[in-house]
Amino acid sequence: MTRRSEVTGPLHGYSERPPGFVLHERRKGLLRRSADSVLHCEALPLPKLAERYGTPLYVYSATAIRERLGAFENAFHDVPHTICYSVKANSNVSILRLLARAGCGFDVVSGGELERVLAADRRMATKIVFSGVGKSRDEMTAALKVGVLLFNVESESELWALAERATQLRTVASIALRVNPDVAADTHPYISTGLHKHKFGVPVGSARALYAKASGVRYLKVAGVSVHIGSQITDVAPFAEAVARVADIVRELRADGHRIDYVDTGGGLGIAYQEPELEFEEYVAKYARAVTTHLRGLKVHLLLEPGRAIVGPAGVLLTSVIYRKENDGKRFLVVDAAMNDLIRPALYGAYHEIVPVVRPGKSATGSSATKTEMVDVVGPVCESGDFFARDRELPRVEEGDLLAILDAGAYGMALASNYNTRPRPAEVLVSGKTVKIIRRREKVRELYSAEL
Ligand code: LLP
Repeated sequence: MTRRSEVTGPLHGYSERPPGFVLHERRKGLLRRSADSVLHCEALPLPKLAERYGTPLYVYSATAIRERLGAFENAFHDVPHTICYSVKANSNVSILRLLARAGCGFDVVSGGELERVLAADRRMATKIVFSGVGKSRDEMTAALKVGVLLFNVESESELWALAERATQLRTVASIALRVNPDVAADTHPYISTGLHKHKFGVPVGSARALYAKASGVRYLKVAGVSVHIGSQITDVAPFAEAVARVADIVRELRADGHRIDYVDTGGGLGIAYQEPELEFEEYVAKYARAVTTHLRGLKVHLLLEPGRAIVGPAGVLLTSVIYRKENDGKRFLVVDAAMNDLIRPALYGAYHEIVPVVRPGKSATGSSATKTEMVDVVGPVCESGDFFARDRELPRVEEGDLLAILDAGAYGMALASNYNTRPRPAEVLVSGKTVKIIRRREKVRELYSAEL
């Protein structure tokens, strides 16, 4: 299983994401005195991938994705459960297919995501939960026709819209209400969702009455309760708190005569962007204890919707330094990736570790050839918000060198845009020594062809 190696570089405590992204030595010269370290994805050196596919490039490790999903499966093995990977984190069809083959289900929030999952594997319909605060009636119809497992309903209006469509189609919709547990989670305000002031879910206090209404509709089947308190949450206590409230609701609903088979605890488990991650298996086990403690004895089938924790550290954004630039003493590295390719720093002030792909080894005299400098790493887009790092101490790199922006597997490509008419990056998936292009780079003409 994934093991964090100790401090790997002389300058940064943390620059590998095993098993996906690891440093290997590259020996040079007959005497083999100097050994550069080169960042690899599994068995493939990133410079080879950059040469072959160009930059900016998203590189994912299939092994890392499988292992991280495996950690969830292990942690929850003693309770009936289905992991419904949250497609929004990374919706590439090949990644969905890889996860489907590994036994995963899916959490979708749009008709588009539903279609992607089915394109990856048509048989997945019955392992799909449909979440989201604004499902359109047409999206509901599409989901009813393929027979998704569960609709997570977020309001009374939505309940009636679903009732209308289900009745028209004479198809039973299994539903859970997403309750808003009013639990605070320590994360960025844009991705915190579990408080009353947020638009999500129905207040715990009104859920019971709404379940009663739903159970009166012939084509609605009350089947579960769902909750999701936010994203990038690294303290497991708020999950336990939210699930405790859900457990109370399950008991109340059963007392009211409803049949509750499912509890969906959402996603949200955070990753370590800045510090070394705990042993992942242990971390997920801790999360599993927090989630399951209050469900013991309830005999429900647990649904989980992790996104980031599965794919985040399994991907990097590979970019080349186009220019070095200095303005009155402030140094910039202008790279060929930009905020349109990875918007997290600009949107949430998010931290992503950035590492040079090649680290020079010791020189013949034995001194370390690496000097550090304080830089801003910025993209070519015409906004000051277009940065990946500010005042970051990095080993000195030159124009043409490669940098890897780590932990970019989740909410990277999924949030990419064509701002500044920039084609989005290509994506490749590595497994051992093999690499597959899973999304080719866009062509500029494609970006405006719908306007001609
Ligand atoms: N389930 C529901 C209902 C959600 O809204 C989300 C995420 C998830 C599951 C998956 O959460 P995860 O396990 O990935 O934390 N763009 C932001 C993150 C937005 C998350 C939105 N909802 C970012 O880059 O940090």
